[in-house]
Amino acid sequence: MSNERLIPEEIERVLLDEETIAARVRDLAAQVSADYGDSDDLVLVGVLKGAFIFMADLARQLSVPHRVDFIALSSYNKGSISDGAVRLIMDTRTNLTGRHALIVEDILDTGYTLDYLLRIFRAREPASLRTCVLLSKPERRKIEVPVDYLGFEIPDVWVVGYGLDYADRFRTLPYIAALKREVYV
Ligand code: PRP
Repeated sequence: MSNERLIPEEIERVLLDEETIAARVRDLAAQVSADYGDSDDLVLVGVLKGAFIFMADLARQLSVPHRVDFIALSSYNKGSISDGAVRLIMDTRTNLTGRHALIVEDILDTGYTLDYLLRIFRAREPASLRTCVLLSKPERRKIEVPVDYLGFEIPDVWVVGYGLDYADRFRTLPYIAALKREVYV
């Protein structure tokens, strides 16, 4: 068996390789660890499904005590057109009231998902509420949302890998890559 990693034919190019992602995740974890050094009640809330790999890597690099939890959302009309309607599929098990909540997202696109999450979490009165986002596509933004920790800004292309999918495929590629346009247009 060859050691060479296979790149699926649907991939146009690799945008962020494993080493680049790992280095940035280490930086983000160092920033989060420094900022939450004094708080003993940090809860990371990963947004399923896309954030599962980022969440696992980020959490394992933190040097401060923390809990991990997840939330699952689904947006209607996903794709090039989105009207911003978001549906809660699975809530956290942790009570966020009085705790320091850090939302962990794989990608910020229109902003509707994070905006929705911030609104429902604020109502739970956490001690603090921040956002940690691996990828942002500024060109796609429909609504401004605060990002406290950002990995990378990327162009408006469909990206897969490191948790991100196209029709639930390619999530476990170790790198982040642009899909060929003919696959999704
Ligand atoms: C993606 C991503 C974010 C959301 C961002 O989730 O994980 O949660 O879209 O888009 P927005 O800024 O336009 O709201 P998706 O709905 O594809 O589900 P998945 O994470 O389960 O793949």
